[in-house]
Order: sequence, then structure tokens, then C-alpha cells
Amino acid sequence: MCGIVGYIGSKNTKKILINGLKELEYRGYDSAGIAVLSNGNFSSFKSVGKLVNLEKRTKDFETRGFAVGIGHTRWATHGKPTELNAHPHTGVNAYVVHNGIIENYAELKKELLKEGALFLSQTDTEVIVHQFEKNLKDLKNAFKAFEKTISELKGAYAILLVTKEEENTIFFAKNGSPMLIGINKENDKYFASSDTPLIGECREVNYFEDGDYGYVTQNELVIYDKNNTQKEPHFIQLATNKLSAQKEGFRFFMEKEIYEQSSVIADTLLGRLNENEVFFDELEENFFEGINEIKLCACGTSYHSALTASYLFERYAKIKTSVEIASEFRYRSPLMSKDTLFVVISQSGETADTLETLKMAKQSGLKTLVICNVDNSSMVRIADRAILTRAGIEKGVASTKAFATQVTVFWMLALHVAQSKKTLTEDELTQHIHYLRAIPTSVHVEDAMHERIKRLSKRYLHGHGFFFIGRDVFFPLALEGALKLKEISYLHAEGYPSGEMKHGPIALADPELFTIALLPQHMLYEKSKSNVEELSARDSTICAISPLEFDKADDFIQTKEHPHYMLEFFEMMVVVQLLSLEISIRLGNDVDMPRNLAKSVTVE
Ligand code: G6P
Repeated sequence: MCGIVGYIGSKNTKKILINGLKELEYRGYDSAGIAVLSNGNFSSFKSVGKLVNLEKRTKDFETRGFAVGIGHTRWATHGKPTELNAHPHTGVNAYVVHNGIIENYAELKKELLKEGALFLSQTDTEVIVHQFEKNLKDLKNAFKAFEKTISELKGAYAILLVTKEEENTIFFAKNGSPMLIGINKENDKYFASSDTPLIGECREVNYFEDGDYGYVTQNELVIYDKNNTQKEPHFIQLATNKLSAQKEGFRFFMEKEIYEQSSVIADTLLGRLNENEVFFDELEENFFEGINEIKLCACGTSYHSALTASYLFERYAKIKTSVEIASEFRYRSPLMSKDTLFVVISQSGETADTLETLKMAKQSGLKTLVICNVDNSSMVRIADRAILTRAGIEKGVASTKAFATQVTVFWMLALHVAQSKKTLTEDELTQHIHYLRAIPTSVHVEDAMHERIKRLSKRYLHGHGFFFIGRDVFFPLALEGALKLKEISYLHAEGYPSGEMKHGPIALADPELFTIALLPQHMLYEKSKSNVEELSARDSTICAISPLEFDKADDFIQTKEHPHYMLEFFEMMVVVQLLSLEISIRLGNDVDMPRNLAKSVTVE
């Protein structure tokens, strides 16, 4: 995920900015840059890859005395990770850094191009600086121009902007992406998109709220709220431990990433929906023309999102879909026909088995697509087209938010195909889009829910095995729940289709067999319920997850009522993630780095 730093003061600006960016490295990035305004002159440096490259670039650059500076680490979303796409972006006399996504950048860019603005990058961010310069020409006042620019942006952002017009000032705005400011004893001011760059530099910080914008100079900090009313800063003590600051108060990165799902899914959806349409800038209009079949191929958690997708593609887009485990597909001499779209799914974009299947499909002349979280990864470079999931870096080895964003993309993609094949009516599409917009709320972690799972987890630390069971898309979710538990608790767990238990596994049923039953209200409820009752009658210990009371269970985790089964899917996903997390924490395991596993498996 992108990172922002800013500094205004008389210390070594370059060093402060680069050190600040280093503190944000843990969030992941693929390029970086800084811009410093000192004695009326801008100096800007960018580089692709690690920060050492930026350090080399800036080797001979020093500032003396007062300066203002902004810096950025970029995790590519719009446009490849190239130097031109790295921030800060510039127009004529201003530089900007930005986290988040400007949803209406395409419209703004169209207008700006008409008026002669010269765009250098493919990013959404660049429109901010051109829009600012356009407004500056009209309004002749930098703050007014900045204020107007912010009012014209739709989407999520944390923004810092510097301009020659007001050379001792940093303009800032925050909406939906985090940003804070700290002030030290010398009255120097530091900006950052999370705590860590400020630890050790300042003791007190002000966290901006959504809608806040304003400016700082050497002596002033002026903040306006979303109603354009000036407000006082609210300074609080900054934490002192960097590692715990990186975890933002959570015990493990995995826990933080579970909590982050709501905001990263909002990013996944941004700019891809309107009232009755789902669109992907990444795909040309006729991308699905001539495609009669979809083949999805992946490993691990990504395989589970692919399985989920197969239900959605067939149900809504009426297109034949099959799913393959990459390591199996590679060696079974598969038949590939040219009317098949070959889709690989990978958080990292580097998993060796998946990568090989992508190469095989390309060699066979199939059209290929990758759903991936890392731009410029091997798969993104090789596939014909790529859709980025925008989950930000995932540090926990057990994948959570990457899975959530993959499923979100697949639901959107199924609707996108349905829209072009007209397999859903306009009303149905509009309804689905309404539900899609509700995913971020459905995955929001409620304190009461987390507490309940924490308490229940102590009863599931032993036993001779877990069965996660579900039907339809809740079957892949059951597989994913079981995989999460296996990966981090080292307990034996399986995912199974509820209706299949009677064909064998039910023989295992006894009080020491734990069944985690997914019982959504809007997908085969009665059928799934009977399957669970069969297990309950054989004395298996049942933990039911459902919005509807279920008296045959030993334990019951009540989810909210949702109008659509996919929203139930997303809430239940959070429940199984938290359950695995809490069981594993109780067992004393290193949740973020489970034994024998690696985040990215680049060997066969
Ligand atoms: C490894 C990880 C899993 C992951 C799988 C696929 O096995 O431990 O968590 O799901 O690789 O990774 P990918 O990056 O291709 O999604």
C-alpha cells in the first residue's frame, strides 16, 4: 500500500523524508520518490524498486536551512510501477503525493487534456496537480485553488501538495485514507500516512479526520473540516514502539489484515461501478467476445476464490467454468480450446505452479487474464490482461484480505460478463451493484462478534479434527476456513460440501469431531440444516454460523441478516478467519509466520 511523508522545517529534509519512507517499507511498494522545495527551487527524484535506488539518486542532493518536502512509496494500482508513474507528480509549478484512488480521474483528465494539460503518467493522481494548477490560474490564490480542487475529487485520498506559489507551505487533505501530522519542539512539522515515520521525531500528533484539509507553514497549522469550517487540531501522545505501531495496535499482522478488509474492498470497488454497470478499465469492451468457456487456475487460498468464482460465472454469466489446481493441471496433458479464457489467480503473482500454467495456456494460444495483488509481478507481465485486487501488501502468511478482494473482483467480473452477454436484466444488475457496495459493511468486524469468537475459541483447542461444511459458494468458503485453521493452528481440518458428509466422513462423527457449519439464510438453508442435523444426531460437536437461531448446535455464532447470500458469504468469511486466529493465538503459535509455510512459493 502506498505511503506518504512530508516535512517542513530546517533539518536535513532529504534525510527525514527518506528515513520516513523507510519506516513505511513494511507496507510494500514498487517505486518511490521525493520533491523538495528550497529557496524557490524544486528538486525531485524518483526511482523504481527499493529505497536504496532512491538513496543513490539523491546522493549528491542536500538542502541547507528551511525547506518543505514531500515523499511517497507507491504500490501500483493505476498504471505500471515505472519512474513516470511514481509520485510526486508535477504539472508546471507544483508537486503532489497521494494515497487512495481518485474515482473520477478519467472525467477530470478528459477535460484537462482538452484544455492542454500535459500528462506524463498513467496514474489517477496526476489529475490532482493539473486540476490545482488550472484552478490556480482562475483563482490566483493557492489555498483557494487547493480547496476547490479537493471539492472536485471523488474517491479516497490522503494528499500533500507543494507549490512555488506559496513556497513555505504544505497543503494537505484527507478523505478515506489515513494521514497524521506531528510537531516537534522546534516547531518542525511532519506528515505521514501512518505512525511509524513520526516515532522518535515527535511526541504528539494530530490524526486527521475524513474531510479535513488545510495547510501548514513554519508557524501555522490551519485545518478545515468537511463542512469548510475551521477547526482546532487535537494532539495526542504518539506510541513509542515501532513494531507495534506497524501492527496498528493489533497483536498480529493477520489480525490487522482481517480488520482492513472493509477498506481494501472499498478500494477494489472504487471506480469500477456505477448505478447499473460494472466496468474494468483493464479490459477492452470486446474482451469476452468469442469466449465460450472460462478456466480458472490457482493454488491455495487463491484456488478457493476461483472455486467461488465458478459458481458466480455459471449462475450469472451463464458461461461454462472449470477450476483447476495449478500443480495438477501442469502435468495432466490438459485439452485447451481456443474459445477458452484462461484465468490465473494469485496474491503474489509469483507462485511457480500457477505461473507455469499461465505459460502453458499462452503457448496454446489461449487468451489469458490474471487476477493479482502485485503489479509488475511475473504473472501480470505475462498475461494478456491483469486485474489488480488492490488489497495492499499482505504480511500474514495466511491470506485473508487478498482472498476477500479476489472474491470481490470475481463477483464484479461475473456481473461484467453477464452485462455484456445480457444474461441478467438491468434491474438484476442494479440490484447486484447495490449489494456489491454493501460488502465493505458486511466485513466490518464488530467488537461483540470478535469477543464472542475469542471466548468460544477456548473450546476448540483439541479434538480429532474439524470439518468446515457448506453448500454452493459456502463450500469453497468451508475449504478456505479449514485451510486457515490448518495453516496457523496446526490442527487437522477439512472443508467438505455439507451434502457429501453422509457419503463417508459422517463415520467419524463423535463428540471429539468439531463441525463448523456454515448456514446462510439465502442459500439452501433447509438442505444445509438437515445435513448438520444428521451430524448433530451422531453427537458431533457443532459450531453453527448463521443469522438464524439453530438449536441443534453446541455453539452458535450469530451473523447479521443480509439481503443476499454473497453478503452472508463475506461476513462468514470474517468469522472463520477470526476463529482460526483466536484458536491459534490460544495455542501460542506465531500466527504471522506459521511453521513450514512461505508467503510466496516460487518453487515447484
Ligand atoms: C502459498 C501461501 C498460501 C497461498 C498460496 C498461493 O502456499 O502459503 O497462503 O494461498 O501460496 O499464493 P498466491 O500468491 O499464488 O495466491
